[in-house]
Amino acid sequence: MALPLLTLPKAELHMHIEGSLEPDMMFALAQRNGISLPYDSVAAVRAAYEFENLQSFLDLYYAGAQVLQTEQDFYDLTWAYLHKCAAQGVRHTEIFFDPQSHCDRGIPYETVHHGITQALRDAKTHLDISSGLILCFLRHLSADAAMATLEQALPYGEDIIAVGLDSSELGHPPSKFQAVFDRARAEGLLTVAHAGEEGPPEYIWEAIQLLKVSRIDHGVRCVEDPALVDYLIEHQIPLTVCPLSNIKLCVFESMAQHNLKQLLELGLCVTVNSDDPAYFGGYLLENMTAAQTALDLSDRQMQQLAHNSFRASFLSPQEKQPFLEP
Ligand code: HPA
Ligand code: ZN
Repeated sequence: MALPLLTLPKAELHMHIEGSLEPDMMFALAQRNGISLPYDSVAAVRAAYEFENLQSFLDLYYAGAQVLQTEQDFYDLTWAYLHKCAAQGVRHTEIFFDPQSHCDRGIPYETVHHGITQALRDAKTHLDISSGLILCFLRHLSADAAMATLEQALPYGEDIIAVGLDSSELGHPPSKFQAVFDRARAEGLLTVAHAGEEGPPEYIWEAIQLLKVSRIDHGVRCVEDPALVDYLIEHQIPLTVCPLSNIKLCVFESMAQHNLKQLLELGLCVTVNSDDPAYFGGYLLENMTAAQTALDLSDRQMQQLAHNSFRASFLSPQEKQPFLEP
């Protein structure tokens, strides 16, 4: 009997909340907020989602996020994603948010923070889904801007579990943000960083050695450096891999060529995640299914991925335990 993937408890560790903005919600929020969109229809938005690389996606992702204006908008966005989690057997999720893409267009930090965190609290109460919130810095902006964002968020630091690094990777190495990450860790926050999606293995080393990350987001280019692969295995530093994202952004030519299975068989702690589900054609379940089919992953490997997702999470050992039992 095939493994019931839908009901298998899963955790998601790499999902940008702004990337869960579905085209129909984009239209509804544009109308609610009196914003005009450069598209005639939901179908036209979907048709625009053909990307050549990370930057061509980011341009549309930042444009789409402009419809998010009020606390209610951020609540509705987050709540819709959490409903998807409930429907797909996702029991825990650690989500990214990008305050700079909102604050830089005049939205108060508190508006973003309160809308998202209220939805996360409601999901615990009403959907039995636990969560963590990860504040990401936009790496194409300056280190000073990242520090100012951190200072703005620290009064609400109780709600934030970690800081991360996203946006355009090439030309913006982790070392650029060492001081900001030092400060975040001094405040008791954990750290993660996107590295080795489009950037070289050296960026993964920098994230580990300079930013002291607990996980690497993406990290698929680690295979280009055997010493790095050995290190990731030895220290079981998790990689939050996003299969559909990697295909949509042309990191791999096809799902059959994705290195997820290779990483798993080498003994790395890899997890599967959706990254920006509204833009890349699927939530966590669709990512797991697409990888399973194209790479012929066994039931045991699918179970390993689900197991890794809790192992790599920021839940406490007691909270993880029920999900790690065989
Ligand atoms: N990479 C970098 N930045 C991002 C991504 C990604 O996959 N998604 C949203 N911001
Ligand atoms: Zn990402």
